[in-house]
Amino acid sequence: MKRSHSLVSGLFLITSAALAQGQAPAAGPAAASPVAITLRADQPGRVVNRNIYGHFAEHLGRGIYEGIWVGPESPIPNTRGIRNDVVAALKALNLPVLRWPGGCFADEYHWKDGIGPREKRPSMINTHWGGVVEDNSFGTHEFMDLVDQLGTDAYITGNVGSGTAREMMEWVEYLTSDAVSPMANLRRQNGREKAWRVPYFGLGNEPWGCGGNMRPEYYADEFRKYNTFVKNYDRAKPIYRIAGGANDFNYTWTEVLMDRVGRQMNAASLHYYTLPTGNWRTKGSATQFGEDQWFSTLSRTLKMDELITKHAAIMDKADPEKRIGLAIDEWGTWYDVEPGTQPGFLYQQSTMRDALVAALNFHIFHRHADRVVMTNIAQTVNVLQAMILTDKEKMVRTPTYWVFEMFKVHQGGTFLPVELQSPDYVFGGEKVPAVSASATKAADGRTVHLSLANTHPRDPLVLTVKLAGISPASAAGRLLTAPTMQAHNTFAAPDAVKPVPFEGATLAGGTLTLTLPAKSVLVVELRGTRRPIP
Ligand code: AHR
Repeated sequence: MKRSHSLVSGLFLITSAALAQGQAPAAGPAAASPVAITLRADQPGRVVNRNIYGHFAEHLGRGIYEGIWVGPESPIPNTRGIRNDVVAALKALNLPVLRWPGGCFADEYHWKDGIGPREKRPSMINTHWGGVVEDNSFGTHEFMDLVDQLGTDAYITGNVGSGTAREMMEWVEYLTSDAVSPMANLRRQNGREKAWRVPYFGLGNEPWGCGGNMRPEYYADEFRKYNTFVKNYDRAKPIYRIAGGANDFNYTWTEVLMDRVGRQMNAASLHYYTLPTGNWRTKGSATQFGEDQWFSTLSRTLKMDELITKHAAIMDKADPEKRIGLAIDEWGTWYDVEPGTQPGFLYQQSTMRDALVAALNFHIFHRHADRVVMTNIAQTVNVLQAMILTDKEKMVRTPTYWVFEMFKVHQGGTFLPVELQSPDYVFGGEKVPAVSASATKAADGRTVHLSLANTHPRDPLVLTVKLAGISPASAAGRLLTAPTMQAHNTFAAPDAVKPVPFEGATLAGGTLTLTLPAKSVLVVELRGTRRPIP
C-alpha cells in the first residue's frame, strides 16, 4: 500500500479526541487555520432539477425480484406484491424519477410478455445478468403500481436493440393513450382503465454496447426512426425523449448525436461508473480496501466533473440555449461482487466511501445545473451502489441511502455559488480537494442548505463560512460519519452508519464556523433570514 500523507501545510490536524461527531474544534492551533469559504447567497444561479436525485431499477439480480417484488402471496408484508418496507424507505427519499426496465435488459425486453395474467406470461432468459429465467411477473402494470406507490415519475426505456418500432409505438399507446384503440383497450382488458403518465422515455440503452453495438451514425438514424413512433397522446404534456448517449469519455458519440439528432431528442444520456482500480476485470472490493483504494475511488469519481464539462462543451456548440439536457442515467460505484454471490447479480455492499462518492457527485451535478437535467444512480435495491439491501424479510439502509436522505433538501433548490480554496488531501503523490461544498436556496426564499464533505480519512477540518447575502438566525445540521473508511450497515447491525444531529456549528458576525470531521458528509440548514434572499 502507498504511504499516506496529511493535509498540506497551513492546516493543523485535530487530535483524535476531537473526532467525536459534531464536536466543536478545540481551542488552539486548529482553530487558527480554518478553511475559508464564502457562500454567495447574493449570486443565485439555476434551479437544481430535482430529477438529479433520480433512481434506476433494472431486472438484474435481486434488484426487482426479492428487492422490490415479492408477489402478493409472500409472507413479507406487501401491497399487491410490492414490498412495504422498501416502498416506505424509498418514499422518505422523495424519489423524483425511476428508470426501468434496464439497462442492458431493456434492449432484450418485450413488453407484451409482461402483461395479462401472471401465470400465463411467457418466460425469457436474462442473458446479461446471470442467465437466469425471467418469468415476467413484474411487468408494465406492476412497475406503474410501484411508481404510484412511491409517488414518483416513470422513466421507461424502450427496446431499440432487438425490438421493432411497432412494438415501441404500441407500448407507448398502451401506457399513455386514453383513446378507444387496440392497445388502450388491451390495457383496459388487463384492469387499468385510465392511461398512465410516462413523462420520460428512453430510446434504447447503451446502443454502443449491449444495446446493439452500433456506430453513433447508425444509432442516430435509429433514434430518428424510432422516435417518430413515440407519439404524444397527451399533446399538452409531450413525452421527454432521452437518447442513448455516450459512455464516459466517448466525446465523438455526443458530437454525432448533437449533429445528427439535435433537437429531436430532449436529452442525451451519459454513463459513468466509478471503479477503485479502473480495471473491469479486478475492480476492487466493496469493503476490504485500504487508503489507496479509498483515495483512488474518490479521485476517479471526481472525473465526473471533467466528463460533464467536456460533453457539455460539445453540446454548447450546437445548442448554446441549452435546450437539450444531459441525463446521467447510470452512475455510481461498481466493485467486485460480494464473495459467494452470483457474479451476474452485481450485489455489493456500500460503505462510508460510497457516501462520499454520492456527496461528491451531487455537488458536481449541482454545479452543472444548467445542462444536467436528470441523474439516476445505479441501482436502487441490491444492485451496485444501492440505497437498500434486502435478505428475505430483512432490509438495511446503506450509507448511500443516508446521503440521498440528507440531500433531499437540495431537490429543486436554487444553486448558490460556494467559493472555496480547498486544501488538498494528498496520497501517494496525488491529490484531491479535501473539502467539497454546495449550497442551494429553498423555495421559501429564506432557507439555505449547505452540504459539505471531507474526503480525508483521518483529518478533520475547521471551516469558516462567510455568508454573503443572508443573515440566518439559526444553523442546524445532520452529520454522517463513521469510525472507519470501511464502515457499513449489515443485517445484524443496520444502524452502524447513520446521520446524527450536528451541534458543532456556531454563527457569529455573518460567519458560520464548524469542524468537519474526517470522512464525513454534513448538511447544515441556515434558517430564518430576516429578509428573503434575492
Ligand atoms: O447498471 C448495470 C449495467 O451497466 C446496465 O444494465 C448497463 O446499462 C450498464 O452497462
